[in-house]
Amino acid sequence: MTGDNVEISAAGIESVALLAALHGSSFAHSGAEPWSEASTRALLAVPGMLALVAAGAPPAARQPCGLAVARCGPGDAEILALGVLPQCQRQGIATRLMAALLRLLAATAIRTIMLEVAVDNRPARAFYTIHGFSEVGLRRAYYRRLPGSAIDALVLARPVAPLQHPPPGPGAIADDQQSR
Ligand SMILES: CC(C)(COP(=O)(O)OP(=O)(O)OC[C@H]1O[C@@H](n2cnc3c(N)ncnc32)[C@H](O)[C@@H]1OP(=O)(O)O)[C@@H](O)C(=O)NCCC(=O)NCCS
Repeated sequence: MTGDNVEISAAGIESVALLAALHGSSFAHSGAEPWSEASTRALLAVPGMLALVAAGAPPAARQPCGLAVARCGPGDAEILALGVLPQCQRQGIATRLMAALLRLLAATAIRTIMLEVAVDNRPARAFYTIHGFSEVGLRRAYYRRLPGSAIDALVLARPVAPLQHPPPGPGAIADDQQSR
């Protein structure tokens, strides 16, 4: 499965088990605590929560392979999880999820998206750098690791470009915010 043959769709409360499973598998090697179904359900009940799932597009098998969960608004958006199954990484799937998230936010009044990432999460830091995020803060001992230890998190942010309204008429370019 690659970023070219996945579909991104919104996921609701009916997808709690899927989202928890995707989170557990995607973050298995990151040291993050996996989301339980109960904690995922509670999260989705928070106002402004948006969940997206990446899955194979027909005619390929509709196998789910990644998720993005963000709290949106009122003033900014925060990515709470962006993960892709290990066997599906480096194929542009998180890029597709990020592009979909930015496209949805572009239609809102939200102009900043942010997140926290552990300082030792090199793949994620590389991913976010390539997608235009920069460091705006540091949270000391933010993520719990082994009992009794914790690791710092960087706070990253990037602007969200507003939706462009192309002039009416033939040849108008479809709205599509580039994530890179
Ligand atoms: C970070 C993560 C979401 C990236 O997902 P992905 O689908 O592999 O990302 P993409 O294929 O869209 O990568 C786009 C670009 O990001 C950069 N990148 C992604 N993973 C990278 C890695 N392991 N090492 C270096 N650069 C990386 C590369 O520039 C890549 O482009 P390239 O493959 O053409 O070189 C994935 O590694 C993951 O799920 N990690 C575990 C969960 C996690 O830590 N999430 C982030 C914290 S919220």
